[in-house]
Amino acid sequence: MWQHLRDRAKALADRPIRDLMDADRARDFSVEAMDMLFDYSKTNIDAETRDLLLSMAEKAELPACREAMFAGRPINETEGRAVLHTALRNLDGDPVAVAGQDVMPDVLATLSRMEDFARDVREGRFTGQGGSITDVVNIGIGGSDLGPAMAAQALSPHADGPRCHFVSNVDGAHVSDVLAPLDPATTLVIVASKTFTTTETMTNAETARAWMASEVADPAAQFAALSTASDRTAEFGIDGARVFGFADWVGGRYSMWGPIGLSLMIAVGPDDFRELLRGAAEMDAHFREAAMRDNMPVMLALVGIWHNQGCGYATRAVLPYEQRLARLPAYLQQLEMESNGKRVAMDGSELSVHSGPVVWGEPGTNGQHAFYQLIHQGTRVVPCEFMVGCRGHEPDLAHQHRLLVANCLAQSEALLRGRDLAQAKESLDGRFEGAELERQARHRVFPGNRPSTTLVYSRLTPRVLGQIVALYEHRVFVEGVILGINSFDQWGVELGKELAKALDPVLAGDAEAGDKDASTARLVGWLRAGAG
Ligand code: F6P
Repeated sequence: MWQHLRDRAKALADRPIRDLMDADRARDFSVEAMDMLFDYSKTNIDAETRDLLLSMAEKAELPACREAMFAGRPINETEGRAVLHTALRNLDGDPVAVAGQDVMPDVLATLSRMEDFARDVREGRFTGQGGSITDVVNIGIGGSDLGPAMAAQALSPHADGPRCHFVSNVDGAHVSDVLAPLDPATTLVIVASKTFTTTETMTNAETARAWMASEVADPAAQFAALSTASDRTAEFGIDGARVFGFADWVGGRYSMWGPIGLSLMIAVGPDDFRELLRGAAEMDAHFREAAMRDNMPVMLALVGIWHNQGCGYATRAVLPYEQRLARLPAYLQQLEMESNGKRVAMDGSELSVHSGPVVWGEPGTNGQHAFYQLIHQGTRVVPCEFMVGCRGHEPDLAHQHRLLVANCLAQSEALLRGRDLAQAKESLDGRFEGAELERQARHRVFPGNRPSTTLVYSRLTPRVLGQIVALYEHRVFVEGVILGINSFDQWGVELGKELAKALDPVLAGDAEAGDKDASTARLVGWLRAGAG
């Protein structure tokens, strides 16, 4: 199957994508659903290739795997867990059973507790020891940070509650810089950690508690916790009334829809948070019901498989033409790379193909003035995933939005069409002659024929953001199913954590470097000496 795909990619490598552009292509090679249009016509996928990709999804039994996920079966086999972030946005409350028990009553009860607490904070019924809460600090890392941090920025036009801040890095600079301008007496600290054991989060939480204690009599009273580990949150001293729990079937990187989204809910209000959930639920329904060819997450995933495992392009760039989605690439890095960066299949055998790609990006137009040079003229092909809204949130600045859109479209057009030597010579318009003209023109050639997709959405509202994030979640799922891997564990992060724990006393001078390799031992020596 993989060889077939690679052979096809090789055979088509030099075919100009432009040659595929007949009158029907843009319609045939795109998917419209909800508030979005996903265009993949600027890729080298033709009808036969699409059939091949669809047959791969079928062979991997995608529909059955999808239903197993939605039905709460333990598809995260290495951890023996169900995967049910979709239940967190199942606002209708249709029963979802895990091991024979409907999880929905608990999900909805927790959502309603979160809403009560968020309203209390926003409306001044829950106060700090110095008055109404002005600032909320979410302390978490990875999935307990990236989702709410990304969404809080994305939805800033909807933010009408206390200001939200995010601390993640164990670098003391992060917590210091965030806390410095805040008043402990009017700040709420939310400790977000599924396990409540993560070193970075627990260290920052202790620092924040000490900061709070320097000003207020009862610091714990201004702390809340989001976790699956109620014993540990109690040990930390956080009152159960301000602990919002969730089950182990919510993966960290899929958790922004539940308690981990509390800071976002406080910022934008429970109604907009529900809109976010509604948007995601719409995408869930689409993913479950739409035919494969008209299924946006499925087609986005198949484009990914084509580019990475078929054509061998090792990275993909996510390029939102929306400044407020500045944190989306970082969010997707965790979602995609922690989920699909695996070297063995579900049965433990080594993969015969590459796992998921390196995901990176920046908002346009900023990226255009930084790394697009390589995308246009570098020797490696980087498939680009553009996204842009029809409208912005600044009606007075519609002309700026138009420029933004023009740039987005121009980039995908330039990648598609390129500029050949004759055109490059023409552009030099009599400025050079002979060999110098040739030399100068060669620098100005764009190979073109570089693939991109474009996701167009109506406007970045809570509902649309929910659709976009759920789209990418399901895309990751589909790619994982076709690769035959477990997209829901993350064992690859463990070794570094263990070694860091062992190195801390060595750096403190309380233990010897012992069995460290020569490089690490020397680095330890330098760092210890430099620490004074
Ligand atoms: O180390 C990786 C990871 O486990 C992520 O998967 C997770 O989102 C993050 O750490 C934070 O974990 P926790 O929410 O348990 O603090």
